[in-house]
Amino acid sequence: MEAIKFEHVSFAYDNGFVAVDDISLTIASGEKVAIIGQNGAGKTTAVKMMNGLLRPKSGKITVFGEDASKRTTATLSKKVGYVFQNPGDQIFNQTVYSEIAYSLKYLKIDKAEIERRVIAAAQMCYLADELQTNPYDLPFSIRKFVTIASVVAMDADVVILDEPTAGQDLLGLTYQKEIIEQLHQRGKTVITISHDMEFVIENFDRILVMADKKIIGDANKREIFWNFELLDKAALKQPVVAQLANRLTMKRNIINIDDFVSEYEK
Ligand SMILES: Nc1ncnc2c1ncn2[C@@H]1O[C@H](COP(=O)(O)OP(=O)(O)O)[C@@H](O)[C@H]1O
Ligand SMILES: [Mg+2]
Repeated sequence: MEAIKFEHVSFAYDNGFVAVDDISLTIASGEKVAIIGQNGAGKTTAVKMMNGLLRPKSGKITVFGEDASKRTTATLSKKVGYVFQNPGDQIFNQTVYSEIAYSLKYLKIDKAEIERRVIAAAQMCYLADELQTNPYDLPFSIRKFVTIASVVAMDADVVILDEPTAGQDLLGLTYQKEIIEQLHQRGKTVITISHDMEFVIENFDRILVMADKKIIGDANKREIFWNFELLDKAALKQPVVAQLANRLTMKRNIINIDDFVSEYEK
């Protein structure tokens, strides 16, 4: 089943600036997709249209077969959860618990179920010991997990993570890998914007590349990171291992250490 479909979607901000220009894409239910591309390419604008936070100027968006323009943002966000790029845009409660519980209050579920969901989401996001902490007393890197937990608790079919890797240390990246894996195992569709190419390669196979308001690449990571023309257009670099393989004129499509070693040992 198709989770998200864009047909010739464009968007302009109130000042007239066109941030997304005629993009089309289809993401299947249960898929894991990474979106990469330079700052300002239009990635955040594009994903915010998936749950109605922004509405397209033209084109059609379909969410699980339904025309998104006929659905409120509240209805769409039950199906598509968006974790903001900047946690400060999302967090406004005094404790981690109330922050995670906040949106659940609108779901017409009873108190016991809310509590169960908050605790489960907090555990999944490594926040079980921080439920009574003020989110703003947590370091930025951990605050990001509060916003992820809020969206996880909503149990939406699609989870969008906007730059979750920014400011994370190795442990944070490991936690995020586990969260993405768990969501995937539960059948969720996971869409992640990231600048961390190693993280993208480790956790995703399908990659969408955006540059200058458009999608200029949509393929498997092993194709994307050996398409020099595409990388050049998007101002992206090959991962270092791929650069090395290229210099040594080894087989194309090597993108990580495992690929490299198995080719080297042949
Ligand atoms: N509220 C806004 N008003 C006007 N322009 C904006 C607004 N938000 C973002 N933009 C512009 O839209 C373009 C795309 O932004 P964005 O979607 O955030 O890109 P990305 O997430 O790829 O970095 C950028 O040039 C940005 O400056
Ligand atoms: Mg962005």
